Amino acid sequence: MAKLAKLDDIVSLCRRRGFIFQSSEIYGGLASCYDYGPLGAELKRNVRNAWWKHVVQMRDDVVGLDCSILMHPMVWKASGHADKFADLVTVCKKCNTRTRVDHLQDSREGTAEEHTEHVDIETEAARPHDLAGKVCPACGTVGQFTPPMAFKLMFETQMGANVDDTMTLYLRPETAQGIFANFRNVLDSTRVKVPFGIAQIGKSFRNEVTTKAFIFRTREFEQAELEFFCKPGTDEQWYEHWKQQRFDWYLNLGIKKENLRFRDHDPDELAHYAKACVDVEYKFPFGSGDWQELEGIANRTDYDLRQHQRGIRTMNDWYESKGDLTKISLKAESEDYLKGPLAYFDEEARERYVPYVIEPSAGVDRSTLAFLVDAYDEEEVKGEQRNLLRFSPALAPVKAAVFPLVKKDGMPDIAMNIYNDLKKQFTTFYDEKGAVGRRYRRQDEAGTPYCITVDGQTKKDNTVTVRERDSMEQARVNIDQVKTFLREKLDL
Ligand code: GAP
Repeated sequence: MAKLAKLDDIVSLCRRRGFIFQSSEIYGGLASCYDYGPLGAELKRNVRNAWWKHVVQMRDDVVGLDCSILMHPMVWKASGHADKFADLVTVCKKCNTRTRVDHLQDSREGTAEEHTEHVDIETEAARPHDLAGKVCPACGTVGQFTPPMAFKLMFETQMGANVDDTMTLYLRPETAQGIFANFRNVLDSTRVKVPFGIAQIGKSFRNEVTTKAFIFRTREFEQAELEFFCKPGTDEQWYEHWKQQRFDWYLNLGIKKENLRFRDHDPDELAHYAKACVDVEYKFPFGSGDWQELEGIANRTDYDLRQHQRGIRTMNDWYESKGDLTKISLKAESEDYLKGPLAYFDEEARERYVPYVIEPSAGVDRSTLAFLVDAYDEEEVKGEQRNLLRFSPALAPVKAAVFPLVKKDGMPDIAMNIYNDLKKQFTTFYDEKGAVGRRYRRQDEAGTPYCITVDGQTKKDNTVTVRERDSMEQARVNIDQVKTFLREKLDL
């Protein structure tokens, strides 16, 4: 049976083998920021590619986009982020530590009430919060908290070199808004017709009050988001479609079924724009094994496109406010909003509507962590511990490693030729140092599915040993057949 990974095992393996490092480590590190090392960069790229393949490449009804991180400030006024994107926090009167209200443990029950990534601040602030039994996570004091207040999550920055034309901008807290802002551009420049989706992968930033568990919750992270536009009335059916698609994506990439589940949001948990929302949750090995959100799938209705139509109508006020978002309110919607720039004319139905949106929104770093945790295993082989990552071939950072058994008798030359040939198609690694057993172990720990060894027999019959990571079974394959063998086995 696979061993249940502890987060410490994963963190230590990631550091030791160059998957993930603390950012700016030579200067003591920057809290909650991480850098992906050589193996991690490959792994994360494979996660991105697997998402893109499933959500864009394999579908006829989704196109891709790659928007800038900095966007016009009115985007965030219209989307609601400028006014509402905040966490409800409280400060411990004893030690001054600021904590998210939904992260506080209750001394009576020992549980936190955390559900969502971020909340609708108006709904949350209106809700009564009993902090009497809550424990400060920093100093352990019970029930000594200030009244809950909003803490804004968007990072601000300044654009422009001259004093009189600098403008306050925000680092995007989600990639979704770039998609809504380009809805008309995509309609006008391609042949897409509703129902269709626009997908993008990119960095997002949130000044999270509490960061958590390695790369699980950080202040800079990557999202993979799809906004799927459909005719109102068909939204529930598309919601079910994407729920299933996204769940199956994780399973097909090797996540164990018992570690994955859906969790529907309660009506009082729903964001102000959402008609329905479900989280895909993974059983992370934090604490005693916590179910935590991997991805959210929301029915965002026509909220965003209609809000941006209001944003466009408010642009004169924006100029008059000289760029101060706090001085403006969004104008009401035009009565003929169905003729607005972000409405859609359905030629087949001869009908105008603002499309509804189904949004599967995944975290690339968070799913990378889930794939690492799920693949991690330890077993005893001939009295020694073997650590391995049982990655699905599509995710494995290195697909094949090539070794000469020893550094003599022409074996390195043959191995190098095989390596040079394979690397044109697969991420391949060449290693001739140390005992071959140790080289196998190093590749097991990196999650490499196949190791190819050139040995004494190779010169006699032109065959090599191909060893499979999980079973450690070895087969002899003709050198001319190695590439085809790997292509079939890896299904790439
Ligand atoms: N556009 C919708 C949206 O952004 P979200 O639930 O706030 O929804 C979607 O974020 C996903 O992004 C989450 O399920 C999570 O995987 C990832 N995510 C959000 N905040 C994160 C953070 N601080 N660190 C790492 N991943 C995060």
